[in-house]
Amino acid sequence: MRLLVFLFLIVSIVFVFMPLASEQGRKGGDAAFGTRKFEDYERPLACRSCHVDIYEQWAQSMMAQAYTHHWDEIEYFELTVPHAQNVPEMAGKEAGCNGCHTPIAFLAGQAVPPRPEEGTRANEGVSCDICHTIVARTGDPSFNYNYVSEPGRTKYGNRAGVESPHHKTQYLEFMRSADFCGTCHNEKSPFGVWVKSTQLEWKEGPYAKQNVPCQVCHMPQAPGRNATTAATEHPDVAQHLFHGAHDPSKVRGSIEMRMHPSYREAEPGDQVVISVQLFNGKCGHMVPSGSAEERQLWLHVTATDSEGRSYHLPVDRKGFEGEEHTITSNESAYQDMAVMVGDPDFEGLPRDALPEGDRIFCLPYFDPQGRRTVAQWNTASLGPDYRIGPRETKIETYTWTVPDDIPLGIVTVRAELKYRRLVKSVADYLKVPADETESILVNDAETWFEVLD
Ligand code: HEC
Ligand code: HEC
Ligand code: HEC
Ligand code: HEC
Ligand code: HEC
Repeated sequence: MRLLVFLFLIVSIVFVFMPLASEQGRKGGDAAFGTRKFEDYERPLACRSCHVDIYEQWAQSMMAQAYTHHWDEIEYFELTVPHAQNVPEMAGKEAGCNGCHTPIAFLAGQAVPPRPEEGTRANEGVSCDICHTIVARTGDPSFNYNYVSEPGRTKYGNRAGVESPHHKTQYLEFMRSADFCGTCHNEKSPFGVWVKSTQLEWKEGPYAKQNVPCQVCHMPQAPGRNATTAATEHPDVAQHLFHGAHDPSKVRGSIEMRMHPSYREAEPGDQVVISVQLFNGKCGHMVPSGSAEERQLWLHVTATDSEGRSYHLPVDRKGFEGEEHTITSNESAYQDMAVMVGDPDFEGLPRDALPEGDRIFCLPYFDPQGRRTVAQWNTASLGPDYRIGPRETKIETYTWTVPDDIPLGIVTVRAELKYRRLVKSVADYLKVPADETESILVNDAETWFEVLD
């Protein structure tokens, strides 16, 4: 009997301390580098044999292309890797990219995985078996791939009590949270600067308070079967769309606009003030968010007189510190690329490569020398955050002295809000294919006033 009690005690002690021990053994972030093998993870095609729709949805998303997409390959192999090799302080920084862009290669200990054309498993990017074997994160907040990956038979998800012929299933609250996405959607640079903060922006905004996480907008739910082999339909199957900056239908209309003049009637030589209201009614975070170092969102306003002549109206200044970075300019920028591309004669590129004088909603990134950079890993400080926050309305004004020689009649004033994923001067210099710099019309608005004598 005593022996039984003793055994019971031993067993209880083991059970009490075992989870603690495994908690401590869990690695995330840089500590997880090289702790797994490729064979620990199943290929996305293995999941496809039952989860056909989900696979096809995911395959179109940027997360499936996080390692193979042309601009990712160019930035990584032509800027980051040489930078890490040429500058001692940057040594080793090239490995970190993969913790988010090709987690399996990172966990398997590849500091620089083979190029995409080699067709290795690094190409799987952010795959099914990465997300569905993440069990927790190390530390708070989520950032710099501090997820804990525990590959194996159990796939974690949003449903309790469902059965699969291929694997075990388990409900995991963490998967349904914004903190889960934040492990890769928040990034701190080697200089300690938040260079990606989508989840942190969300957390400060109204959607966190109303418990509307990322999944609601990027994995919308619809009725159906989540596997061809599923026993039943569900009313709320999570669609793996992950649509974002690369999906014009997601970007269009994300900001709504209206505008009006201060007077409906004016004489030549009068001053008219045009106001434009821009409302972010669709996004859970800043617009632009994520890779803010290279995204461009700008407002171009033109007036057209009754004879069809058009005038570009520059935005009124508000007078805040660093405002010059929020008004389009073609001054020289991105000089830090000289050491990355190994060209000492490189003198920089036009900053915005856009008509000057327009408002550009942005978060400027600066290198250690205080120059504008598109290299988030080389970012030592940030300028003023002049992006449009969730449910925020920004007002821009345009004070215009109506020319003395303007013909009488109706003047139409038109505002176009445009979005581009990558600064065109940078793209052209690095020969990034044109689809990355096509501009999308986010929204437009019009107003008018009449010129009388
Ligand atoms: C042989 C068919 C089959 C294969 C292969 C398969 N699954 Fe499943 N999976 C299912 C079925 C069936 C369910 C349960 C569906 C239901 O009833 O909702 C399921 C459920 C899931 C769930 C939901 C679990 C939960 O608790 O919410 C996840 C996540 C999942 N699978 C991921 C994967 C991943 C990742 C792979 C590839 C590594 C994979 N599956 C391969 C058939 C399969
Ligand atoms: C393991 C890391 C990781 C996790 C976890 C992760 N993401 Fe991502 N995500 C990425 C990377 C890397 C990219 C960029 C891919 C590229 O363009 O190279 C990305 C891209 C995206 C995009 C596309 C943006 C565009 O440019 O079009 C969306 C949307 C997105 N993720 C949403 C989510 C949501 C929602 C979650 C949580 C349910 C999530 N992600 C979890 C790594 C991750
Ligand atoms: C209320 C809906 C909503 C919520 C909640 C939401 N998003 Fe978005 N997200 C959008 C829309 C709309 C866009 C497209 C406009 C844009 O690019 O900013 C977008 C764009 C993005 C992009 C591309 C940003 C860029 O400019 O490159 C990423 C990445 C992203 N979301 C990730 C997330 C993550 C991670 C979360 C949770 C922390 C989240 N989103 C929460 C609606 C939402
Ligand atoms: C970026 C992370 C991520 C990737 C990549 C990903 N999933 Fe998911 N998946 C999720 C999240 C998060 C949920 C739960 C969504 C929710 O609760 O709204 C989910 C839910 C599911 C479900 C249950 C859907 C339901 O509502 O019944 C299945 C099945 C599934 N995923 C399979 C897959 C397969 C197969 C792949 C690859 C083709 C894949 N997932 C890729 C994050 C991911
Ligand atoms: C903490 C996770 C994380 C790390 C580390 C990281 N990235 Fe990313 N990266 C992302 C996410 C998430 C996005 C998508 C954001 C968005 O769409 O706005 C992204 C987007 C990009 C893009 C833009 C893709 C496009 O087509 O617009 C490039 C290029 C890129 N990353 C390269 C790199 C390089 C090079 C490194 C290493 C120096 C790196 N990333 C490190 C998460 C990360």
